[in-house]
Amino acid sequence: MENTEKRKVVFSGIQPSGNLTLGNYIGALRNFSGFPDADCLYCMADLHTLTVRQDPAQLRKRTASLAALYVACGLDPEKNIIYCQSHVPAHAELAWILNCYTYMGEMSRMTQFKDKSQKHADNINVGLFAYPVLMASDILLYQTDIVPVGVDQKQHVEICRDIAQRFNALYGDVFTIPEPYIRKASAKIMSLSEPTKKMSKSDPEDTYIAILDSPDDIRRKIKRAVTDSDGEIRYDPENKPGVSNLLVILSALKNITPEAAAQELQGLGYGALKEAVAETVIGELTPIRQRHAEILADRDGLNAMLIHNAERAQALARKTLRKVYKKVGLYQP
Ligand code: TRP
Repeated sequence: MENTEKRKVVFSGIQPSGNLTLGNYIGALRNFSGFPDADCLYCMADLHTLTVRQDPAQLRKRTASLAALYVACGLDPEKNIIYCQSHVPAHAELAWILNCYTYMGEMSRMTQFKDKSQKHADNINVGLFAYPVLMASDILLYQTDIVPVGVDQKQHVEICRDIAQRFNALYGDVFTIPEPYIRKASAKIMSLSEPTKKMSKSDPEDTYIAILDSPDDIRRKIKRAVTDSDGEIRYDPENKPGVSNLLVILSALKNITPEAAAQELQGLGYGALKEAVAETVIGELTPIRQRHAEILADRDGLNAMLIHNAERAQALARKTLRKVYKKVGLYQP
């Protein structure tokens, strides 16, 4: 009989492929510590980054940095399993099997695949095409219930559900069917220079705030953020995308609504708005940046944590993988 007391499993991942932005922090990282009653796994999705060319030295550096960042953002690496995707071979192994239960047609309809094929037209590789299958493997290996992601990853969680349901229909209840978890309040943070576009770590430096930016950089970037010429502090994303984006940042960090943030600054100018945003962002990110530096400075400690957590993850993943191998008919002596 199914144990109804079973703790929920939460899984998410981030690609170590660029400077993580304030958008990644507000939309994803910050929410990862919100599941005290669940077993949580957070990975550095390094295998996913290879779908786009990476500088090898940079990739290594960013992977370690992301591991430290997870911890710096408040995730205890004993309570949560923080690990590197490539350290757990079961991810790639399950991905192969699931490739054989995924259709070309459904992969070619994925929005991110279409976007990235345009952006990297000279390198539309098979990995980029099969990216969602690897992501499905990440999730399904741990019998995940909840997948906290940003809105842009919702389609990938949905295809993961489709693949799992298809597999279960053929072989019985092998996989838990996961639910995407998208925090309504975790508003989308836009680019500082083009506030109708999402803030992205793959755009030029001055258009985003990196989680690890220095206070001076943060002040400078916010000072330069695009606003408008009517001078009124009002939340109106349609007509005032720049000002509204600043209000969204401010309100997300203060856990109030953008309207309330606008109310607090009634009658003041954009200079005051920008200063309020800059100081709030600096207040939030400074302790994270300091902890991050401390964690990275103890490289042996970080490595020991990664090895230990990869072992914990692999032990869980192997259970699911063995079940899958058995179901599909792979001979196991
Ligand atoms: N594809 C996700 C992104 O780019 C990262 C990711 C990899 C992920 N595997 C995952 C997210 C599993 C959630 C669950 O944002």
